[in-house]
Amino acid sequence: MKDVFRAVPVTDHVWWVGAIDWAVRDFHGYLTSRGTTYNAYLIVADKVTLIDTVKASYRDEMLARIASVVPPKTVDAIVSNHSEPDHSGALVETIRALEPRTVYASKKGVEALNEYFGTAGDITPVEDGQTLDLGGASLTCAETKMCHWPDSMVSYLHEDRMLFSQDGFGMHLASYARFADEIDPWVLDYEARKYYANILLPLSTFIQKAIDKLQGLGVPIDVIAPDHGPIWRQGPLRVVEAYARYAAQTRTRRAVVVYDTMWESTHWMARAIGEGLAAGGAEPKLMPLGGVHRSDVATELLDAGALVAGAPTINNQMFPTLADCLTYVQGLKPKGLVGGVFGSYGWGGESTKHIQKVFEDMNVELVGPPVRAKYRPSPDTLAECYTLGRTLADRLAKNPARTPTVTGQ
Ligand code: FEO
Repeated sequence: MKDVFRAVPVTDHVWWVGAIDWAVRDFHGYLTSRGTTYNAYLIVADKVTLIDTVKASYRDEMLARIASVVPPKTVDAIVSNHSEPDHSGALVETIRALEPRTVYASKKGVEALNEYFGTAGDITPVEDGQTLDLGGASLTCAETKMCHWPDSMVSYLHEDRMLFSQDGFGMHLASYARFADEIDPWVLDYEARKYYANILLPLSTFIQKAIDKLQGLGVPIDVIAPDHGPIWRQGPLRVVEAYARYAAQTRTRRAVVVYDTMWESTHWMARAIGEGLAAGGAEPKLMPLGGVHRSDVATELLDAGALVAGAPTINNQMFPTLADCLTYVQGLKPKGLVGGVFGSYGWGGESTKHIQKVFEDMNVELVGPPVRAKYRPSPDTLAECYTLGRTLADRLAKNPARTPTVTGQ
């Protein structure tokens, strides 16, 4: 195995020993169209130390990569920066296989690992800010609670100026390229935004605090090594700056029109709203849920200024694909959106009422009453839709265009 699944050198002391998951397409509700990686890192100092593990089913791939660098039983310690099973699912069996002297986690990490995997007694808590002496290398651990779980922490290898950032600054992207500078920047930009929008957005306050904390440490950072996706070694602070922008949720002229349709009526209405938005200078993006995943809608909402939602009424409810999408994006807590509501019906017509209720709970500011069409939108109804689009465009006119990418382009 170790001659097939080999480690990749990252810095003087560090090897990538993770796993590449080309197959995963669902990550707790998020469509991972390009797969992902579960990154684990081996620090080769006097005390060989493994940073994080991988999803359980990828354990043997990780162990083979470790064995390609050092005899496995020479691993002295494991640091678990995050207890979610994509990084700790292989932990118990890795402890059995490597028999490390010590396994470290944050205090909350110890609790979580005990509760999740029954590791009681096996894990040693590290204090926030504690530095571990690895013999010829030193590793400082810093808690970053809620980035992504209560247990989350990062660790910093002083000698290589390298930050192991667990979920932070990652993306779901399977690749044999291990470094961001080897990957198409537009792919990086999209996947970084998608990852933040679908996983970290509701935790933005914690993300900003973590960034402030890292900057407060005053340590130089040459390499950022996340637990998913590529490693940042050229201008690594650009991804930190991108995160600060994402966390600020700066709203742009982008307007997301999300809808589904039974007999084309809401489809016609969405297109008329789109025409009004475009004519008013906004950047409309129509997202028909028959062919668009909820997580792609969430991605667009990272910096969109408006959310417009429409659905036919079915059995006194909004169409279920829209209910699914709105439930999902509501949980991600986008802030500062203006919006509009539209829908078609045959008799009851409750869909717009239900959408309005969700928008109220999301604090989306409606710019006008819902536009409704009985059976089919008349020319007057389409004109109302167009006017809704124009009104929204006027509200978005003061917003900036979209922000630069993580690569600064
Ligand atoms: Fe990649 Fe929160 O786990």
